Amino acid sequence: MKDKTNLTGLNPDNFRSVINGKDTGLYILRNGSGMEMCVTNYGAIVLSIMAPDSHGKFENVVIGFDTLEEARRQSKDYYIGATIGPVAGRILHGAFRVGEKDYHLQLNSVSNTLHSGDNGFHTVVWEAQQPCENQLLLRHFHADGEAGFPGNVTVRMMYTLTDDNGFRIDYEAETDRDTLFCPTNHAYFNLAGMGTPTTSIEDHLVRINADFYLPIDMNTNNTGEVRAVGDTPFDFRDYHSIGERINRKDLQLLNGHGYDHCFVLKKPALHELSFAATCISPSSGRRMDIYTTEPGLIMYTGNYLPGFTGMHGTVYPRRSAVCFETQCFPDTPNNPHFPSIVLREGDLYKQTCIYQFSTQP
Ligand code: BGC
Repeated sequence: MKDKTNLTGLNPDNFRSVINGKDTGLYILRNGSGMEMCVTNYGAIVLSIMAPDSHGKFENVVIGFDTLEEARRQSKDYYIGATIGPVAGRILHGAFRVGEKDYHLQLNSVSNTLHSGDNGFHTVVWEAQQPCENQLLLRHFHADGEAGFPGNVTVRMMYTLTDDNGFRIDYEAETDRDTLFCPTNHAYFNLAGMGTPTTSIEDHLVRINADFYLPIDMNTNNTGEVRAVGDTPFDFRDYHSIGERINRKDLQLLNGHGYDHCFVLKKPALHELSFAATCISPSSGRRMDIYTTEPGLIMYTGNYLPGFTGMHGTVYPRRSAVCFETQCFPDTPNNPHFPSIVLREGDLYKQTCIYQFSTQP
């Protein structure tokens, strides 16, 4: 039964619980243009983004769940809609060095660490506060050693649903000891609208502001190489559908089982908020422009989605959704030629990402 109190149809009672002594709940953000977003503070998971199509019809454009249990279960393996951190992406052998000290993280992806292991930000109950209807402030105190990372880190995130239909994420963090920091958001988008039967994202058109991308090995680790996109299926400098080249016998697409790669964004200056990519669903006319302060954008085409059932009975098979993760280059700690992700004691970390929605005929 869809709940009538919100456009998404979620029942707030299904998200009320106590985990690790902290209260969880459902938070609803609304802007002045009729858009709505549902979020739970467990993992800071985005459960819905209700965005209009070219006829003004509002539909959910991200994978979501009806209950906290389901959201928790699926974000554990697939990080659905969650905030990832302290460090997003894979770290080779889970090993890194900060200052004079070596650290070893839990290995949860073959012999490597993915998305900071099983106890990353996606499992944290964030302290949540809604200063106004279109904003949610999420806070987490990361204690020294949590998930294997050094430093007592105070993390603040603001989710804003702007009146011009942007989902804006502002991250801030401070540490009392040098550490690594590079979070991201792991929403899975299908701009046709999540419904039954589920459509593939292979018809979505994508443009990415990148002349280079980072090749991966068979375990999806960056090899450290920075390769030009020209004459490859990774050239999205003009619009291409996701499906156009995804099944080519290209070693990189075979390694990723599709796209699961970091694009090196063309930027006016490192950490300046700038255009990263556009994604368009031709069937609905929905368009999403992505802006970020970060140097990289991972396009992950849901290659491992197993077909579980999510919100309102919707089934999400392989390639039914695509992630655009704005972040540092994966495995930066082991690639000194990538822009550093060391957060120094006394410095203020800042990151902004905007998923800007609009429509076109
Ligand atoms: C990674 C994929 C991984 C997925 C987990 C993505 O960010 O790049 O390799 O399978 O997260 O759902």
